[in-house]
Amino acid sequence: MTDPSPADPSATASGGPVAAPPVAGAVAVVTGAAGGIGAALVAALLARGAAAVLATDVDPAGLAALVRTHPDADGRLETRVVDVADRAAVADAVAALAARHGPVDLACANAGLGTLAGVLDGAPEAWRAAWDVNVMGQVHVAAAVLPGMLDRGRGGLLLTASAAGLLSLPGDAPYAVTKHASVALAEWLALTHGPQGVAVTALCPLGVDTGLLATDALATRFVRSSGALLPPAEVAAVGLDALARGELLALPHPEVAAMEAARVADRPGWLARMRAAAARLGG
Ligand SMILES: NC(=O)c1ccc[n+]([C@@H]2O[C@H](COP(=O)([O-])OP(=O)(O)OC[C@H]3O[C@@H](n4cnc5c(N)ncnc54)[C@H](O)[C@@H]3O)[C@@H](O)[C@H]2O)c1
Repeated sequence: MTDPSPADPSATASGGPVAAPPVAGAVAVVTGAAGGIGAALVAALLARGAAAVLATDVDPAGLAALVRTHPDADGRLETRVVDVADRAAVADAVAALAARHGPVDLACANAGLGTLAGVLDGAPEAWRAAWDVNVMGQVHVAAAVLPGMLDRGRGGLLLTASAAGLLSLPGDAPYAVTKHASVALAEWLALTHGPQGVAVTALCPLGVDTGLLATDALATRFVRSSGALLPPAEVAAVGLDALARGELLALPHPEVAAMEAARVADRPGWLARMRAAAARLGG
C-alpha cells in the first residue's frame, strides 16, 4: 500500500507539533534588534529568563540605546553590528556567541526592510535589498544555528515574516514577494527539520507600531487601515508563545487567519477586495 498523499485529510500526522526549548536558561540571538519588534523580542527573552541574548543590527546607535534600556540585564545582553545579508558575518556572530555561552537554543531572524517600490518603478537594487535582507538574511541565520540544533535534536527558529506574506500588499512589490518567501522558508524548515527537533514559526503581524510604518506611502496606509496597530511587545510575545508551542504561524492579529482562508477560498473575490481597498487609499 502506498502512503497517503498529504492532500488526503485522513492521512495521519507523524508526530505532533515540535515545541521550542524553553526561553528560561536559553542562549538566543535576535537580528534587527535595534528597535521595533526586534528590541521587543530581546526584552521578552530577557524578561523570560534567557541566559544570554545576542542582539544584532546594522544600527550601532540603536544597539547602544537598547543596552541602556536594560540596565538590569546582568551581563545577559550582548550586542554586535551584523548585516544579515553577509552570511560570514552572521556565522561569525553565532559562533562567537556559542563559544562564550554554549550552543544557540533560539534564533529570531527578524531584520527586515520595506522598499515602497513597484514593478515598473522599482530599481533592481530595491529588489536585491529586499531579497538579501528579508529572505537571505533569514537563510543565513538558519544556516548558522541549525548544525548545533540538529546535533542536540532541539532548537527554535522564529522568522519575522508579515501578514503581507500570507495576503500580499499593495504599494511595495519587493516586500510582498519576499515576505511570501519568508513564510515559505519557515514552512520548508518546519517540514525538513521539525522531525529532527527544531521548532519553526513564521511571525505574521499586520500593522505594528514601529519605525517601519513611518511613511505615508500606499503600503503604509494600507497596513494602517487593515487592522489595529499593535505594540511591538505584544507582537513579540505572540511570536515567542507560538514558537514555544511549535506552531508554524504566529498571528498577532487573529483576523489574519480568516483573511487567509477567504483568500484561498475565493481568489478572484479576494483580489477584487484588495484592488478596491488600494483604490480607496489612492493606489
Ligand atoms: N511594523 C510592521 O507593521 C510590521 C508588520 C509585519 C512585519 N514586520 C516585520 O517585522 C520585522 C521588524 O521590523 P519592525 O517593524 O520592528 O521595523 P524596524 O524598522 O523598527 O526594525 C527593523 C530592523 O532591522 C534592521 N535592519 C535592516 N536591514 C538590516 C540588515 N541588513 N542587517 C541587520 N539588520 C537590519 C534595522 O536597522 C531595524 O533596526 C521586519 O522583518 C518587518 O518586515 C513589521
